[in-house]
Amino acid sequence: MSRDSIGKVLTVAFLLCVICSILVSAAAVGLRSRQEQNKLVEKKKNILQAAGQYDASLSVDEQFNKIQSRIVDLQTGEFSGDFVVSTFDSRAAARDSESGYAIPAVLDLAAIKVRSRYMDVYLVMVDDKLQQLILPVHGKGLWSTMYGFISLANDFSTVIGFAFYEHGETPGLGGEIDNPAWKKQWAGKRIYDEAGNLRIEVLKGAVNKDSAGAVYQADGLAGATLTARGVGNLLRYWLGDDGYKPFLVKLKKEGVNP
Ligand SMILES: Cc1cc2nc3c(=O)[nH]c(=O)nc-3n(C[C@H](O)[C@H](O)[C@H](O)COP(=O)(O)O)c2cc1C
Repeated sequence: MSRDSIGKVLTVAFLLCVICSILVSAAAVGLRSRQEQNKLVEKKKNILQAAGQYDASLSVDEQFNKIQSRIVDLQTGEFSGDFVVSTFDSRAAARDSESGYAIPAVLDLAAIKVRSRYMDVYLVMVDDKLQQLILPVHGKGLWSTMYGFISLANDFSTVIGFAFYEHGETPGLGGEIDNPAWKKQWAGKRIYDEAGNLRIEVLKGAVNKDSAGAVYQADGLAGATLTARGVGNLLRYWLGDDGYKPFLVKLKKEGVNP
């Protein structure tokens, strides 16, 4: 058989494919634990950023020391001790037949269809007192599901920070939800009025700062009305009666038990 025969070319190509696939698989398996570790660090960083507590010069784990992770049962509004918080994954729990909850269509403002009955929440504690509560939220934008964290002060209504860490909206349009100038406006906004009614909304244009409702309103995004509407809707879902509200009402009344 000549060196350039079809048989030899095919054999070399086949062996090359086998070797490459072994190398890629080995790399994927070998690096999996490091990937998981990096994902966890990234999540902690996003939580710290939403809380306005992130300092790039310090290690994420060190800064996360003052944050307690807990699991909340949204059905009862109570903390649940049934899970290992460090490995809990609310996206996987949403798909699970036991912990998944099919959101009735009339309530599904965030357009996510299902969510986990249990959610991981994060408590910023200072001298054993709850200072901030950080809640994961997600919902549909125009093109994608947008995942973020919102941080509330210990009145459980005033926003400290709100940021998305994953979405597929168009850069320059819906992607402007990542623009620091747009994100900054959230600090000081209120979710509920004094009577406990859910008031937060994202407007189509800019907020009139002199209007009575300005504290409950956020500016929309020019050219990205659909993404901005999605942001308002997901907030109204997650902070409403089918989301965290019963938990927040209970927490306000009863405080955090250790
Ligand atoms: C390529 C392309 C990407 C777009 N991406 C977004 C987007 O990420 N978010 C969004 O709300 N609108 C996006 N739009 C615009 C929407 O189609 C729609 O026109 C817009 O949301 C209306 O907003 P406006 O009333 O502020 O103009 C995109 C449009 C095009 C052509």
